[in-house]
Amino acid sequence: MAAQPRNGKVTVVGAGFYGSTTALRLAEYDVFETVVLTDILEGKPEGLALDMNQSRPVEGFETKVVGVGGGSYEGTEGSDVVVVTAGLPRKPGMSRMDLIETNAGIVRQVSENIAKTSPDAVVIVVSNPLDEMTALAQIATGSPHHRVMGQAGMLDTARFTNFVAEECGVPVSSVRTLTLGSHGDTMVPVPSRCTVEGKPLADVLPADRIEHLVQRTRNGGAEVVALLKTGSAYYAPSAAAARMARAVMEDSGAVMPVCTWVDGEYGISGVYLGVEAEIGRGGVTRVVESNLSDDELAGLREAAEAVRAKQADVADL
Ligand code: LAC
Repeated sequence: MAAQPRNGKVTVVGAGFYGSTTALRLAEYDVFETVVLTDILEGKPEGLALDMNQSRPVEGFETKVVGVGGGSYEGTEGSDVVVVTAGLPRKPGMSRMDLIETNAGIVRQVSENIAKTSPDAVVIVVSNPLDEMTALAQIATGSPHHRVMGQAGMLDTARFTNFVAEECGVPVSSVRTLTLGSHGDTMVPVPSRCTVEGKPLADVLPADRIEHLVQRTRNGGAEVVALLKTGSAYYAPSAAAARMARAVMEDSGAVMPVCTWVDGEYGISGVYLGVEAEIGRGGVTRVVESNLSDDELAGLREAAEAVRAKQADVADL
């Protein structure tokens, strides 16, 4: 059998559930040369990497997983993509914003290390509060805005799609949805861009059911946190982050909802915000603007102002 070419090195910072699940998904794609999993804990990433590598003969992938503990960045040098999952998850009753001070310290330190060891990497931030931690990672790495993005829209959109598919009793593959805005209270699910089997959502579901699903999507993370009681979601979040990393490495040009620097699109400037963007080797290659209803556009602008205020604070955290 001809060997499949595998390229690139992806580092996942943080070996909690989110980070380790992301590392496993990345390894199972079998398209990367190496996946490095790091953590401040000694032994945990090494142990997880050993365990993942031992699953390779069964699952049939060759990508090598390397675990690096003790807060070291040795072995991560020259990564093409770095996924930052480091930081605390929320507990039941907490908002993502309650994590800002603790996680800012962690994300700043991680970002400074990335700047030293993998200065050309595309950085994908998933730590919460997402929009603010993404802005902070850009400041602390000093990388160009297009090379630092956050994962949120892919996850929120996946949740919305799943809820719509379940409500309509159709396969998830026949549903298209979209969420923009922040990964928080000012998330903007976009019903006008949603379809079920090609039909507009508004022709398929009554307005009150659509509103219910919009609210459930906005509350999607908290619903899982309340059930788990310790920690937050990681299966859908890791799927979203891993797909973004793969799109970067493969220079796919896929259009995905991501948290990126907005510079004039939708009449909004100078803020990290959830919008659709084309993803390639350089990170975000283009922000893609689409038609929104007046309400949706107003929601997006409101989200921009809410996160702008918080993003101004993170520079000092
Ligand atoms: C969530 C967290 C990871 O939405 O932000 O589940």
